[in-house]
Amino acid sequence: MTVPAPAAPPSPAAGRPVWVLNGPNLGRLGAREPEIYGRAGLDDLRQACLQWGQELGLAVEVRQTDSEAELIGWLHQAADQAIAVVLNPAAFTHYSYGLRDAVVQVPLVIEVHLSNPAAREEFRHNSVISAVAKGTIAGFGVDSYYLALSELARLAAAST
Ligand code: DQA
Repeated sequence: MTVPAPAAPPSPAAGRPVWVLNGPNLGRLGAREPEIYGRAGLDDLRQACLQWGQELGLAVEVRQTDSEAELIGWLHQAADQAIAVVLNPAAFTHYSYGLRDAVVQVPLVIEVHLSNPAAREEFRHNSVISAVAKGTIAGFGVDSYYLALSELARLAAAST
């Protein structure tokens, strides 16, 4: 007689996949201009996003790169797999048309910033990403990511 295998326990990361993608110099969080970006490091940001993802029913993965090509490659993968993205493009925000053209291909992207670029130097006032993102959340530190993830969870619930 074959005994049926017990049902697998629900995975803690179960839920709709969401990638949290971070651009250049965000690996330096905590050390980099803490008066602007806060004292939380990238690992703290990652842990917070994973925790929020569990609470919101999202399977969150957090990545960071200093490479424009790598970031564009991740957006292509997100487009192919229809994965929603929370994107902090960092300095690429202000000039990367390559990144913008990649964002257009992803069904759902929310742009986030820790600081409020509109309240900073003039070159930060323009985002080439905002017009092709679903929306932009800026100025709330690490909580900008929480706000983006909760909006993604709300949108996912509304579409099922
Ligand atoms: C940033 C703002 C950008 O202007 C800057 O280049 C960054 C971080 C933010 O999260 O506040 O690297 O995207």
